[in-house]
Amino acid sequence: MIEHKLQKPILQVLSGKPITPQPIWLMRQAGRYLPEYRELRSQAGDFLSLCFNPALASEVTLQPIRRFDFDAAILFSDILVIPHALGQKVWFAEGEGPKLTPLALADLVKLKPGNIRTALAPVFETVSTVKAKLPKSTALIGFAGAPWTVANYMIAGGSSDDSIHLRRFAYENTDALDRLFEILVQSTTDYLIAQIEAGAEVLQIFESWAGTIPAGQVKKYSLDPITKIISGVRHHSPAIPVIVFPRAAGTHYTLYAKQTGATAISVDTQTSLQTLRAELGPQAILQGNLDPIALISGGKHLQSAVDTIVDQSKDTPHIFNLGHGIRPETPIEHVEQLMRLVRKKI
Ligand code: CP3
Repeated sequence: MIEHKLQKPILQVLSGKPITPQPIWLMRQAGRYLPEYRELRSQAGDFLSLCFNPALASEVTLQPIRRFDFDAAILFSDILVIPHALGQKVWFAEGEGPKLTPLALADLVKLKPGNIRTALAPVFETVSTVKAKLPKSTALIGFAGAPWTVANYMIAGGSSDDSIHLRRFAYENTDALDRLFEILVQSTTDYLIAQIEAGAEVLQIFESWAGTIPAGQVKKYSLDPITKIISGVRHHSPAIPVIVFPRAAGTHYTLYAKQTGATAISVDTQTSLQTLRAELGPQAILQGNLDPIALISGGKHLQSAVDTIVDQSKDTPHIFNLGHGIRPETPIEHVEQLMRLVRKKI
């Protein structure tokens, strides 16, 4: 169909059409592995000020597009702007990752859920600024964290690898956590709709801590909230493609594909792309799976990792990406090599 030819490659794949070469973008493609990011970051002050400065945030979003010509740009922001907008103190300590004032039971009632559009107005301005400057074939991805992943930081007051604080809170303060999840579902839905209105063409929902949810609670704390967010967003924009990334979801991966209304599923490095493809069938739209460490190693290691993914996703709709974000120590030349390999200009 002629329409297909005019469509951006990522949108073609997200409409279910396999294309060769596969479109490509990388999670965390704007960031510290780029010298131009480090340069701008050192001038911008703290990390949240960078996220809330549309001129700088749009520049940072565009840096990897100029350098590598990825098929999509992802809005430069962070999943933790939601707790910030709700009134929780969020800051990024150099070399230590995100910090938040841990949310105590009494603080829950103080959260300000109606505040998203005004509190995050600069982020939407970044989206429209980027949209106006993107090459014609490049899609713009908006994003948010899923409620479990965002709550993990809100309750622990920072990174918590196995979600011990949140899991304990879920047992001991179930009603309060239900209330927090309602607030997160509503504010995340509002946030994503405002990104669409500003120009986002695709959304990605990051459930980075899917792997820490007790099996019996995956439906309640992850599948159901993500389903509600997607249906809320679709109520506003019925055709918007949504990619869900349930990192380390293991045997639950198929449930995210079948039950949430996701258009596509982003596959982590530890999950077998071949097995997941066999379980979901040739129509399923998948993304990712490349080991970020293979990208650090480069050379023949990268070549064979790329070959495997290209082989395993042949003639099926697949967006090339990593199984988790690109790491700061990744050599630029290896990203260049990856682009040549995927686009077959070897
Ligand atoms: O290029 C892009 O992908 C767009 C921007 C983006 C950032 N964070 C910028 C960022 C996106 C999509 C995110 C998502 C995000 N943020 C996730 C989900 C994806 C994942 O990695 O699992 C999570 C869990 C966060 C929370 C967060 N933000 C952490 C844990 C950290 C510290 C770890 C780290 O990589 O430094 C951040 C900070 C952060 N967010 C940076 C960037 C570029 C680095 C901060 C800096 O430059 O000082």
